[in-house]
Amino acid sequence: MKLLDGKLVSQKLRDQLKKQISKLHPNLDKPHLAVVLVGDNQSSKVYIKQKEKACLEVGIKFTLYQMTSNVDTSDILSQIDQINNDPLIHGLIVQLPLPKNINKDLVISRISAQKDVDGFHPENIGKLLLNKNTFKPATPYGIELLIKHYQIPTQGQHCVILGKSLIVGQPLANLMCLETGLGATVTCCDKNTKNMREIIKMADILVVAVGKHHLINDANWLKPNVVIIDVGIHKINDKTKKRGFRLEGDVDFHNPSIQDKCAYMTPVPGGVGPMTVAGLLQNTYQGYQEQKNGKM
Ligand code: GUN
Repeated sequence: MKLLDGKLVSQKLRDQLKKQISKLHPNLDKPHLAVVLVGDNQSSKVYIKQKEKACLEVGIKFTLYQMTSNVDTSDILSQIDQINNDPLIHGLIVQLPLPKNINKDLVISRISAQKDVDGFHPENIGKLLLNKNTFKPATPYGIELLIKHYQIPTQGQHCVILGKSLIVGQPLANLMCLETGLGATVTCCDKNTKNMREIIKMADILVVAVGKHHLINDANWLKPNVVIIDVGIHKINDKTKKRGFRLEGDVDFHNPSIQDKCAYMTPVPGGVGPMTVAGLLQNTYQGYQEQKNGKM
């Protein structure tokens, strides 16, 4: 098994971006990402901290708009309007999940499509399907960058995706299957899929984005030389660790028979997670350039 080292590849991409941003003319404003967080979901706060740290590292300005959990949809829409109209902000994401009482679709649709660096706006989802210039959602984009970095063949390969979320599974399926792009043959599975085991066994590339700890724990399910991409992230109590927990994925990464069976695999942590952040940074810089050049 060879490692798909997201930490390493993400660092390379961040170094490149940092160089590009440092070359911008000193009179120009710098790329600027705004994040709207509603309420105090603890995981969201951790993700946002990672995004902030990465932005500052490469020279992207970062502003957090923290809103309390008792706001309503119209308060969030007003905040979004203000950011949409601010010419000094180039990227805007609303951290998900939103509280249950908020109309998520209305909120996402209100984000200016030109600043929608998460690629969740209906217009941008449509452009992804049409293979037009757009923002690719950060996790699928990060996975694409990782696959390309390691020159993993995709054309004509059977890519099986477990999980159909709007954030990962569905946009990744679109990216993987575009004939003019990665050109894979794609099968998407959910919990009602029949003959799941047989389908998994056919995968040349297996993406696991289900959110079930160690769902894949048996090498007999896998085709020899499969490429495994693990999008899962779970906190496992571990008193031997300083923080009291360790992170593991949807795949039992340390299982020796799984390691023997696959050609490549992403670790957790250090696989897809850092690549997601790299995808977001890349999108923010792209949004900045396009707004500066009036391209979008
Ligand atoms: N919550 C989990 N992943 C994401 C993401 O990629 N973007 C946003 N906005 N929220 C998320």
